[in-house]
Amino acid sequence: MDHQPHRTRDNDHHPHQRSGSHDQHRVLDLDAEVFSDKVAAVLDVAGPTAARSVVDLGAGTGAGSRLLRERYPDAAVTCVDNDPQMLELLRGQGFDVVEADLDHGFPALAGSLPTADAAAETPVDVVWASSSLHHVADPARLLSGVRRALSPGGVLVVVELAALPRFLSHPREALLEQRCHAAAAAEGWNHHPNWTPVIEAAGFSVTQSEVTTVAPVTPAAREYARQWFARFLHLPALTADDRDAVEDLLERFSNDIALEPHTTRTVWVATPDQNKIHSSRK
Ligand SMILES: C[S@@+](CC[C@H](N)C(=O)[O-])C[C@H]1O[C@@H](n2cnc3c(N)ncnc32)[C@H](O)[C@@H]1O
Repeated sequence: MDHQPHRTRDNDHHPHQRSGSHDQHRVLDLDAEVFSDKVAAVLDVAGPTAARSVVDLGAGTGAGSRLLRERYPDAAVTCVDNDPQMLELLRGQGFDVVEADLDHGFPALAGSLPTADAAAETPVDVVWASSSLHHVADPARLLSGVRRALSPGGVLVVVELAALPRFLSHPREALLEQRCHAAAAAEGWNHHPNWTPVIEAAGFSVTQSEVTTVAPVTPAAREYARQWFARFLHLPALTADDRDAVEDLLERFSNDIALEPHTTRTVWVATPDQNKIHSSRK
């Protein structure tokens, strides 16, 4: 199994690869609006009942951070990212923000400039990494840092899309969507390993589960579906016929296409395993 996400780091599963930053932000927010509400519910079962310190790694536009703030209203939610525009959006929502490259490991949290010594700080109760771990060059190093930073009862939650979201319900169109997903997979979209052994190796006990969300057909869901198909259009593996069919779909998204938006996310919930000796790498 490939646990080296380096080669996939540019192959994000969100449809913002060829779009500008405005589209990128919009797509992350649409995903949150359409699909994300149930994801933080994993913390109702597996998370601490209360938290003082929560960290969102690769926080993006704050989709997960907002859910975490709702779930833990008394906690300080710190957002980590290395994209200045994302950081600006996060600051605008009142989050504590740390600008850091997660390729260098888990950052120090007090202040905006990371230092090497994360362990010297207040323990973190919840670390959240949604659709971000597969971007990181050295996930083992980052996870070791998370292990050191977490409080003894703390929880790490890693979320990835189990597959690209699906929207189309008519059988013929659903098959077209399936072929688009195959063409996207050929380009490495949404490529990530099963994180269980990687997280365990960093000194955690892990449970893995899947969370499926079926979303109502709203204008946001239609817009989100359209965003995906607009990106599929550029996939080299798509046949000319399928490209024509996608173009036709794009014309019709705002009105007569039957949608049944649903997505499945894989969620890894990990707690520090006191019996495991974890790597001391930083
Ligand atoms: C697909 S977005 C996910 C955003 C958010 N977690 C969500 O679920 O909507 C990935 C985020 O990770 C950030 N990111 C990617 N590589 C990073 C790195 N090496 N260090 C810090 N942030 C990184 C990107 O800037 C982006 O905001």
